[in-house]
Amino acid sequence: MLPLPAIVVNCKAYEACVGDGATRLAQVCERVAKLTKTTIVLAVQPADIFHVRMASRIPVFAQHIDTAEPGAHTGAVLAEAVQHAGAMGTLLNHSEKKLTIPVLTKAIARAKTAGLITLVCAATPAEAKQIAALKPDLIAIEPPELIGGNVSVSTAKPEVVTATTKSIKDIPVFCGAGVKTKDDVAKAMQLGVKGILVASGVTLAKNPEQVLKDFAAAMQKFK
Ligand code: G3P
Repeated sequence: MLPLPAIVVNCKAYEACVGDGATRLAQVCERVAKLTKTTIVLAVQPADIFHVRMASRIPVFAQHIDTAEPGAHTGAVLAEAVQHAGAMGTLLNHSEKKLTIPVLTKAIARAKTAGLITLVCAATPAEAKQIAALKPDLIAIEPPELIGGNVSVSTAKPEVVTATTKSIKDIPVFCGAGVKTKDDVAKAMQLGVKGILVASGVTLAKNPEQVLKDFAAAMQKFK
C-alpha cells in the first residue's frame, strides 16, 4: 500500500508533462519526495509509464485503465500491461474520464487482479459513498467545477470534503481541484484528508519543484 499522506500529481495530457516532460517532472518529484520524506505519486499517460518508471523511483500511476480482459481488444488500456510497464496503481473515474458504476466496478476488479492500487475519483459526497461500497483502495473527492481553477476545494467547498471524510471511515479520502498553494494543502489536511490530487498547480507551474516543496511542508505535521 501507499505510505500516506501523499501528493498525487496528475499529468493529464498537459504538453509539458508528456514524454520527456513526464520524465523530468518525475525526477523533480523524486528529489522533493526524498528531501521532504513525502510520498509523491505521478499519474502519467499510458505511453509514459515505462520511461517514467525507469527514470525515477517514485510510485507511478496510470490515469485510467479499461475493463478489457487480456484478449482481442485492440486499443484497450489493459490493467496487466499498465502494471507490467511499471505502474503501481491507477486513477479511475476522473471527471475527465467518467465511468458508469457497472464499468467502474469491473475496472476496480481488473485493477485488483493486476495488483494495481485504485484511486477512484468522485464528484460529490454521495457519489463517493456509492463508490466506497465498491471497495477501492483510495477515494478522491473533486468537485468538477473547481478543477483547473485557482480556488481550491478546501477553500471553496470545505463542507464537501468534510461530508466525505466523515461518511467514509474505512477508505482513505483525498481531495483535489484548484489546489495551488501550501495553505490549500494545509486546509485540506485539516479537513481530514489523507492526501491531495493536483494537476495544474504543478503541471503549469513555473517552478514545480518549489510548489511541491511547499505542498510537502504543509503536509509535514499531519504525518
Ligand atoms: O486530477 C486532478 C485534477 O482533476 C485537479 O486538477 O488542475 O484543479 O489541480 P487541478
